[in-house]
Parts: sequence; structure tokens; C-alpha cells
Amino acid sequence: MSALPPAIAAAFAAQAGFCRQFAAPFTGAMVAAAAAAVDDSSAMGRRLIAWPGDPHADALMMRVTGAFHALVRAGRAPALAPLYPPAPCPEPAVLVAAIRAVLADPESDAFLAAWLDSPPQTNEVARSGVLMPGLMVIADACRLPLRLFELGASAGLNLCLDRFGYRLGGVAAGDPASPVQLAPGWRGPPPPVADVVIASRAGIDISPLDVRNAATRERLLAFVWPDQPERLARAEAAIALAAADPPPLYGGDAADLVDAMVPLPGSVGVVFHSIAFQYFPPATQARIAARLAAFGAQASAQAPLAWLRYEVDDASVAALPTLRLTLWRGGALDERLLARAHPHGSFVQWL
Ligand SMILES: C[S@@+](CC[C@H](N)C(=O)[O-])C[C@H]1O[C@@H](n2cnc3c(N)ncnc32)[C@H](O)[C@@H]1O
Repeated sequence: MSALPPAIAAAFAAQAGFCRQFAAPFTGAMVAAAAAAVDDSSAMGRRLIAWPGDPHADALMMRVTGAFHALVRAGRAPALAPLYPPAPCPEPAVLVAAIRAVLADPESDAFLAAWLDSPPQTNEVARSGVLMPGLMVIADACRLPLRLFELGASAGLNLCLDRFGYRLGGVAAGDPASPVQLAPGWRGPPPPVADVVIASRAGIDISPLDVRNAATRERLLAFVWPDQPERLARAEAAIALAAADPPPLYGGDAADLVDAMVPLPGSVGVVFHSIAFQYFPPATQARIAARLAAFGAQASAQAPLAWLRYEVDDASVAALPTLRLTLWRGGALDERLLARAHPHGSFVQWL
């Protein structure tokens, strides 16, 4: 019996099932065990029992699993740490007992309760494996260096995408010596072989994350599910790469960066975003589209404009996100549906 109110307990149960379905059995077990373990004897339990918002909309369950993962990563949860992957998934009762032991420590409990304050924020590096072939299409079509403008860039990890190495449907791209190597499962024809030369880069996010800050880095990593060690290793390597040479990242509304763009003959202006557009307010979405259309009307073969978007454009559960490109080069508008891809970039269906 959970001490959580029925609606919150139901949200935890649904999230646990979702995690199991998406190959994260340990994270699913943590969600279920946390729901069973909490009561009003801990600060975390009291906050969860009295949670005022919608648990799904607030990503409450991911706040909880992120909080425990952060504590384990910090070496501050000795009762729980030995149960984390790569250990085999523990029995539910063992996990519940370990969570209760952690919550019984006032310092750990205070840490966990405070972690619930902010929503999860992630930056999925494997999405570069979907965006990079899109840049190869632009480079192939325009034969010019690219100026990158990323909207909803989070920590800016995907703004460093030319510093990663790739195998894309048999085509090698990027830096073969990079500590970040991406080889998404590939269906369909390969992308064009093209040299992607980046002339400049800039990103914007309403809540930009500075990976030079150790606490920010830990927060980003804690939200990666501990069942997915390869994803964790990739994020750690990309964070180290970005921290050594951070891309310019601004705080603000996505449309502000598009407003600030100016055409520069001899290069392509590339506005791109991944799994971010749905989070922009409708006024921002409209401003971006209107500004790009106006800007695109002035584009030419010497100063082209590209809009590359890897986004959920069909809300139905079974639909995959799409990779779409609009290219303005003077003359007729060039609109292409390039691919469908897994939301985290693990496979690409190139069209
Ligand atoms: C799901 S994350 C995706 C981050 C990154 N593009 C990726 O693929 O990993 C969505 C991002 O959009 C940002 N965001 C939400 N509303 C925004 C806005 N109005 N302007 C700029 N960024 C925004 C969030 O802060 C968050 O970093």
C-alpha cells in the first residue's frame, strides 16, 4: 500500500510501466519502489504526498529517479549504490528497504527533497546522429560553410556535432578520433557524402546549462537513466568535450536568436532544433516561422538559409519524430522530408 494519494500513485505506476517498456527495467523498479517506500516520515515523502501539480506534466517521477541517481553518483547513498546497474535488477522489497534506509538519513532526505524543486533538463547527444546527415544534405546542396544557430540548445552538446565521429548507413563523417562516436541503426539509402564545414555556431535556450559548472554537469548526468551505461558514457564524453571549448550559448527565447540573424554571403545560415519546438510557446513558434520566411525570401545561392528540424510533428504515440529541411536559395522553395528517427536518435529511417 502506497501512502501517496491515488492519482499520484497511479502516475508512478504508469511511469514504471513506461520505463520497463522502454528497456529501462531498473529505472522502472526505482519508480515503483519509491512510490511504495515513501510516507510522511521523510521530507521527500511529505513533498510527494502533497504534490500540488500534475505528476506527469511536472515529470515528478523523473525528478525522483534523478534525485536518487544524483545521490548515488555523489557517493552519498551506500545502502542504494550496490543495487544500481551493472548489478542485476534487485527484488522490489530489497529496493524499497534500501530507499527507506536512505530517507532515514536527514541529510540525504534534505538533498532528495530539494532536488524535487526543478524539472528535469536533458541534452541527448545521440540526436547528433540524426542532425549530422541533415547538415550533410545542406552542405551537399549549397557547397558552402555553415553558420549554425541552435534553438532550445540546452547545454549546447549538439552544437558541437562536428567534433563527434559518425557511421551513417555505411558513410563515415565527422572526427574519427573523437571520444564521441555515433552509429545509429540505419534503414534506407545512405546520406550524401559531403564535407560539413562549420564557420560559426551559437545556441539559445530559455534555461541554458553551463557545462563548465560541476553541479550542472552532475545534474545533466543524473537525469540519464542508469540502465543505459552507453548513453551515460556518451553524455560524459560530450560534456568533457564541450566544457573544454564551450560553444556560445545564450539565455533567452528561441525566437530572439532567429531575430538576431543576418545574411552573410559565402555561407549558409542554418537554424536547427531537436525535440524542442513543442516546448516553445505558440507565439515563439509563429515568430520563428514568420521571421524565417521573410529572411528566406531574401536568400540567394550565395547566401542561402536552411531550417533543419528533428521534431515530433505527429502527437500519436506510434509516430516517430521526423527530420525535415526547408532550404531557401532564391527561386523555388526546397522542402524535404529527410528521415524518421527514434526520439533519442538510436535509429534513423532515411527516406
Ligand atoms: C527536451 S529539451 C531538448 C534539448 C536539446 N535540443 C536536445 O535535443 O537534447 C527542450 C529544450 O527546450 C528549451 N526551451 C523550452 N522553451 C524554450 C523557449 N521558449 N526558448 C528557448 N528554449 C526553450 C528547454 O529549456 C530545453 O532545454
